[in-house]
Amino acid sequence: MKVGFIGLGHLGRAIAKRLIEQGVELIVWNRTIEKAKDFAKETGAEVASSPMELINKVDRVFVIVFDSHASEEVIFGEKGLIKGDIKGKTVIDMTTNHFAYAKTAYEELKKLGAYYLDAPVLGSVIPALKGELTIVVGGDREKFEENKPLFEKFCKAIYYVGEAGKGSKAKLINNIVLGGIMDILAEAVALGELSGFDKETIINILNDGAGKSYILDVKKKKLLEEDFSTHFSVNLIYKDLHYAQDLIKELGVFSFTTAAVKETYGLARKKGLGNLDFSAVYKVLKED
Ligand SMILES: NC(=O)c1ccc[n+]([C@@H]2O[C@H](COP(=O)([O-])OP(=O)(O)OC[C@H]3O[C@@H](n4cnc5c(N)ncnc54)[C@H](OP(=O)(O)O)[C@@H]3O)[C@@H](O)[C@H]2O)c1
Repeated sequence: MKVGFIGLGHLGRAIAKRLIEQGVELIVWNRTIEKAKDFAKETGAEVASSPMELINKVDRVFVIVFDSHASEEVIFGEKGLIKGDIKGKTVIDMTTNHFAYAKTAYEELKKLGAYYLDAPVLGSVIPALKGELTIVVGGDREKFEENKPLFEKFCKAIYYVGEAGKGSKAKLINNIVLGGIMDILAEAVALGELSGFDKETIINILNDGAGKSYILDVKKKKLLEEDFSTHFSVNLIYKDLHYAQDLIKELGVFSFTTAAVKETYGLARKKGLGNLDFSAVYKVLKED
């Protein structure tokens, strides 16, 4: 049976492409429907006219949209998934969501006899195309096991972490690290250049020193060439760090680092860099 796929943004498109390459037949929907039609032309996927129509044709659907408002609209909104034949079906939500929303979505779908997996992914466009993402899943274990063979088609690491909401929490904790390392690396490169080092030299020094990291490996070329075409946007990390701050608040603790890093991306947005790759945070320090 075909699988549903909603959300053909930068990452969604890459995952959908990988699934098709692995032999999974998809029915896709995207808010800007032209993107879905272009994708269908390229891959042969079927296009649905709405989430409501899509759910009538599948028994499971991936959702990967901007944030929890978007997820809510797609699942619970007008012409959303629940307006179709949702009973007994599974929604696999790979959006990086607010943890509280993921729990509510699970509970609301349960009331309708449907299932929700809180299943955010770690990694970006290139790992997705290579089938090397990591997925962290919360929700019913039975539904997780049932869908694991699908996860294996685009993930190298698969975690089941318990109740819905916990997948989102793990993802947000990871993105505190992601946003923080990207910010500090970009600042270090800019500081190096402002101190008179050639950019490649300072990047190589950092790579042989304290900056050696997965993030530097994957963003080195972008920093060097100042190619900030989007894989993971400034707007997305800014959203994630807000959700992370809500987690910090719920836990009754604090994180000065998260606050400072979030505001650096806030400044990047203010400077008009919101839709660029989050490595564009480099420009905040480098340019006037
Ligand atoms: N990019 C990454 O490297 C990465 C890595 C890990 C996790 N994630 C997470 O994965 C999710 C998607 O990321 P992405 O990079 O694919 O995002 P993106 O390129 O910004 O695309 C966002 C997608 O959400 C859709 N959307 C936004 N608002 C909507 C609404 N109200 N109703 C329906 N659809 C809506 C957009 O539709 P339109 O085309 O109509 O705008 C588009 O398909 C995000 O939660 C992100 O945090 C991304």
